[in-house]
Amino acid sequence: MTDVSDGVLHTLFRSEQGGHEQVVLCQDRASGLKAVIAIHSTALGPALGGTRFYPYANEEEAVADALNLARGMSYKNAMAGLGHGGGKAVIIGDPERIKTEELLLAYGRFVASLGGRYVTACDVGTYVADMDVVARANPWTTGRSPENGGAGDSSVLTAYGVFQGMRASAQHLWGDPTLRGRTVGVAGVGKVGHYLVEHLLEDGAQVVITDVRPDAVRRITDAHPEVAVADDTDALIRGAHPLGALDIYAPCALGGALDDDSVPVLTAKVVCGAANNQLAHPGVEKDLDDRGILYAPDYVVNAGGVIQVADELQGFDFDRCKAKAAKIFDTTLAIFARAKADGIPPAAAADRIAEQRMAEARTGSVTGALPGGAAQL
Ligand SMILES: NC(=O)c1ccc[n+]([C@@H]2O[C@H](COP(=O)([O-])OP(=O)(O)OC[C@H]3O[C@@H](n4cnc5c(N)ncnc54)[C@H](O)[C@@H]3O)[C@@H](O)[C@H]2O)c1
Repeated sequence: MTDVSDGVLHTLFRSEQGGHEQVVLCQDRASGLKAVIAIHSTALGPALGGTRFYPYANEEEAVADALNLARGMSYKNAMAGLGHGGGKAVIIGDPERIKTEELLLAYGRFVASLGGRYVTACDVGTYVADMDVVARANPWTTGRSPENGGAGDSSVLTAYGVFQGMRASAQHLWGDPTLRGRTVGVAGVGKVGHYLVEHLLEDGAQVVITDVRPDAVRRITDAHPEVAVADDTDALIRGAHPLGALDIYAPCALGGALDDDSVPVLTAKVVCGAANNQLAHPGVEKDLDDRGILYAPDYVVNAGGVIQVADELQGFDFDRCKAKAAKIFDTTLAIFARAKADGIPPAAAADRIAEQRMAEARTGSVTGALPGGAAQL
């Protein structure tokens, strides 16, 4: 029999994308829970990653997504200098229809069954209030509400981290970290994007925004009438708006922002934004490099959120956490330096550094220092 599950097993055991330590399938018929918990690596510590609640077309698609997302978390956590490996869980189904307290508690018991090898948090389809419920079944849940000992919304520090990545990009490219006088285009001004705009304005940048939601745009232009607006992302990146060509493009909406259509028409010299999985397919990082566009890898600059949920496990302290997120500046610079030294795009350099950290941890030679001099977070 050949079906998609052959593909999943191939991914798990044989492909370069695999190498996961453990994958757990969870079922609780009473509550309707069907979930997959994937642990890619615990080399650097307990696997940490959110719970995605999504109406997958079938179970195989869910397993494949869990594997892929868990692997991504290993790299993100390693680059953030966290003492955590990578994991991710997916709950199969439409959260609007099937999410109940009973189901979340059943899920929490499965997280408990892993005895701390996997620490869970929010992702698409799960929220702070859900983590408060999951946490009643185990002590390995983070991303909870402040009323329940958690840190709450992570977008404040995510935006701060992206801003640090942008400052590092400016330092690398123009020899000065300030964004004063630079033209920055932000696509998607939701939770993260709108905080990012505040940082940019404070630093003296000229800002142009776009969003499919008029209320999200209005929230910013009401407070800051000097902010320009582009009709859509295509107009933003082409410079077809009052501010013209961009210096920096910040994708802060959905994944796949950088593809065969957008890269050739980008006016920006730097791409640095919060969105996950910005590169639509392998090879786009090379296209950016060939055009002389500096790409600050998404999972490096958007790590403020995971830094926050990791910090919550020790008892959240905003200032301590902000200091950790500020290190994204050094980490981003270290990646650009490695990319230059190795003659590879920054996205490939980030992967290399993360893989090196995990390999060192496995052989017990990890020092806690990130290559390039950034301190452990
Ligand atoms: N919130 C966090 O802490 C965090 C952490 C890491 C990564 N991220 C990533 O950052 C991105 C933004 O996250 P968020 O929490 O701000 O989400 P959000 O949903 O609050 O904001 C996204 C915004 O993008 C807009 N949008 C959607 N499609 C668009 C399009 N085609 N063109 C322009 N705008 C569009 C939406 O209307 C919304 O206002 C996501 O990709 C998310 O995965 C977020």
